[in-house]
Amino acid sequence: MSGETAIGIHDLSIATTRYVLTHATLAAQIGSDVAKYERGIGQVSMSVAAPDEDIVTMAAAAAEPIVARHGADRIRTVVFATETAVDQAKAAGIHVHSLLGLPSATRVVELKQACYSGTAALQFGISLVHRDPAEQVLVIASDVSKYDLGSPGEATQGAAAVAMLVSADPALVRIEDPSGIFTADIMDFWRPNYRTTALVDGRESISAYLQAVEGTWKDYTERGGHDLDEFRAFCYHQPFTKMANKAHRHLLNYCGHEVDEAAVNRAIGHTTTYNAVIGNSYTASMYVALASLLDNADDLTDQAIGFLSYGSGAVAEFFAGTVVPGYRALLRSRSHREAISRRQDIDYARYREIHEHSFPVDGGDYPVPRETTGPFRLAGLSGHKRIYEPR
Ligand code: COA
Repeated sequence: MSGETAIGIHDLSIATTRYVLTHATLAAQIGSDVAKYERGIGQVSMSVAAPDEDIVTMAAAAAEPIVARHGADRIRTVVFATETAVDQAKAAGIHVHSLLGLPSATRVVELKQACYSGTAALQFGISLVHRDPAEQVLVIASDVSKYDLGSPGEATQGAAAVAMLVSADPALVRIEDPSGIFTADIMDFWRPNYRTTALVDGRESISAYLQAVEGTWKDYTERGGHDLDEFRAFCYHQPFTKMANKAHRHLLNYCGHEVDEAAVNRAIGHTTTYNAVIGNSYTASMYVALASLLDNADDLTDQAIGFLSYGSGAVAEFFAGTVVPGYRALLRSRSHREAISRRQDIDYARYREIHEHSFPVDGGDYPVPRETTGPFRLAGLSGHKRIYEPR
């Protein structure tokens, strides 16, 4: 635990997009075997953001019910993690701050380190609450994952946001010390400033991820963390859900444990349910896995969960959390399932149109057609500014 005060995740809420593309549709279009996606990489469908949806609208949709439940009086910081920023200077969290009517006495900042920065945001939030346990920190991870059409990465796109309220005496999960951390300079996935789609060396990325599993676990155990057997479940970053399976097998192997499929399924089973149908949501992915676990597993009270957060480039962190008694009464399982099930299926032509859509960059006035079913939307662009509004 962080000092004497228990600090961790007090509330957790996820949001995703209006549209969804199934891998069956993608496979039929490109003449691939759908089993490659559904079994080979563990993906069934992926969320597709409508033109009036982005990291801000998803983030505000995820955070709104948290502010409605707890109020904003104790929130003095908003940390927004993303690798698909909408601006190179202004923090996307300021738009969320405005949409949600948060007090002006708030600090708002954006963090970046590929898919890892959601965890950096969580740890920064914990540090701030440690300094003053009366304060709460709104941590948001929101991303739209986008690769080139026809590239291997295309099947591992997706989009989602997670909002978490970090607080003393948390109602859901206490986050504990120590953390095992790891950094290595690896070019496995990156997105130069001039590109809207990411570049990835898939094989290199899998091997870097597994290297990070070893590096973080080694540091974690050297700092006196739990034994592997003490964990009930493991939430891994999931660029595709099969990666959680690969990572856990690797960890078992590294620790000299027998690797059998039943043990792997017990450890990661419920963590992949949401990501298999949402796809990669970069910074949000591991916390979508946590929502999926809490919403779908049997009672986890007082059980330890291991978290492996990986961000290409590469930075990773392994840490533990313990599930708090009474957590089930506060879960948002129904709204999470509704957010996933109300998405509208689109065909390949519409997906392609959305994928290729880009806004003009001349600073003119461009209203965006109303498509989202979420509570907030990107209304348009004007004078090089993005204009958001409640739907
Ligand atoms: N039935 C069942 N499984 C099949 C199959 C079929 N018909 N065809 C292929 N597969 C399996 C392969 O054996 C492979 O499994 P393995 O990795 O366990 O061996 C898996 O499906 C993927 O096949 P592969 O040929 O490697 O696919 P690919 O070249 O299209 O690449 C990724 C897959 C995941 C590497 C690619 O989508 C990617 O790079 N995605 C981006 C990942 C990312 O974002 N990384 C950075 C953040 S961590």
